[in-house]
Amino acid sequence: MAQAVTTPLTQNVLREGLILPRTPDPAVMVIFGASGDLTARKLMPALYNLALNRYLPSGFSVIGVADTALSEAEYKANMAEAVRKFSRTQPVDHAVWQSVADGLSYVRMPFDDADGYGRLAAELERMDRERGTNGNRVFYFATAPQFFPVIVERLGASGIARAGQGWKRVVIEKPFGHDLKSAQALNQAIHAVFTEQQVYRIDHYLGKETVQNVLVFRFANGIFEPIWNRRYVDHIQITVAEDIGIERRGKYYETAGALRDIFQNHLLQLLSIAAMEAPANFDADTVRDEKVKVLKSIHPIEVAKDVIRGQYGPGWVGGQQVPGYRQEQNVSPASTTETYVAARLRIDNWRWAETPFYLRTGKRLPSRASEIAIQFKNAPHLPFARTAIQDLAPNVLVMRIQPHEGASLKIAAKIPGPVMRLRTVNMDFFYGSSFLIESPDAYERLVLDCLLGDPTLFAREDEVERAWGLADTIEKSWGMQPAADFPNYAAGTWGPEAADALLERDGRRWRRP
Ligand code: BG6
Repeated sequence: MAQAVTTPLTQNVLREGLILPRTPDPAVMVIFGASGDLTARKLMPALYNLALNRYLPSGFSVIGVADTALSEAEYKANMAEAVRKFSRTQPVDHAVWQSVADGLSYVRMPFDDADGYGRLAAELERMDRERGTNGNRVFYFATAPQFFPVIVERLGASGIARAGQGWKRVVIEKPFGHDLKSAQALNQAIHAVFTEQQVYRIDHYLGKETVQNVLVFRFANGIFEPIWNRRYVDHIQITVAEDIGIERRGKYYETAGALRDIFQNHLLQLLSIAAMEAPANFDADTVRDEKVKVLKSIHPIEVAKDVIRGQYGPGWVGGQQVPGYRQEQNVSPASTTETYVAARLRIDNWRWAETPFYLRTGKRLPSRASEIAIQFKNAPHLPFARTAIQDLAPNVLVMRIQPHEGASLKIAAKIPGPVMRLRTVNMDFFYGSSFLIESPDAYERLVLDCLLGDPTLFAREDEVERAWGLADTIEKSWGMQPAADFPNYAAGTWGPEAADALLERDGRRWRRP
């Protein structure tokens, strides 16, 4: 990758990008599930990096809540180790970590234990007194999802959810429900205690810089929006491909599958962002209103025809032999859980009528690549000899979400020389070389937004429920006809043949990112 050059101008721009227009109020973040994987891998490193950038308010404090037998000193040592292992910036600055650790405490309790909430309330009051946190709270649910309802209920019953002055917010990890019915029940349980304005439902894809950049590309440039529609766009492909398998998450994955794990949330979020109308402003409800309109406009899905499922068998990924899904730990040897989904969706509105959106996600594909690719229609007439234009590919704008974050536009160019011959070339933008700062992790952005009270990049109640409605339609149809051909793709390949046929039927092909 080319090395970027910083000029005084770019340095100024970068410096400005790092300054927050406002700082969050002092607050306590209560992490339920404080001894779990998410806290160690994502939340603590995110808090440390926010502290490193001086984005956290003075007095900011964290209470870890879990039922693991740990002293406060042991808990702090574990978190220090987690930051050392998982922070994106290295080595860890000890003074900065110490400033985080000074405001860190641990409350051991089962999540349904009424007495435990009494001790938690006392600890919160102590923090207010000693650290000036003024009753401002973030309740972060990083537990297994079956605990979400009981924690909400206990926060309400103990009075913690409303105690004293200050704001209260609740962050809920995914999976938010298992289907429409359970998501509605969870929303109801939450709303018995918190208003929708207090609820921050995480979809970490929305915290990715590159996903937000899709909005900037579309709505801060004059040149894309006029052609971002059915007149100029042939079709759109949205891919979330992973080379990893299910790692040690067999138990969870057996109940989820690719449809619930990625399609219902990350893929549909990417679709909304790629297809939405321009919001009048960047206010949370205005943006989310536009996203919901996209979900509401999705044409009823003909599952048997337009949705393909797959499951990986043994194969090779990155030069290593890997087991099939049915051989993974905690997976049934006869499992019919899908590890791959591809769907052809249509959006019934004036912008997109008749323009197919092809979405796909899978585990154990040949590489890790998430992208939104807008393929444009061909030029209506080419005034060049047929011999000049062999191998000319259509114009494609690819927004690379990860890796190689950035965007590229495929265009035709003349091959240098005395004869007229054309070839497709890429115009590229790479984050790495255009901006000399490393992008924050999605969790840094999302935690900060929550502390600032900005829910724009979080999923609203109606968004989540609409997305479950779509997933339910697919799940219901699959339930009536369990997959008979699993495993139907080898690990390290681009999914089942039926997924290729889905596009071939329309005279199109999947991209190979
Ligand atoms: C999570 C899924 O939401 O997203 C995982 O549960 C998946 O199965 C992960 O691996 C992918 O996230 P990322 O940021 O690595 O693309």
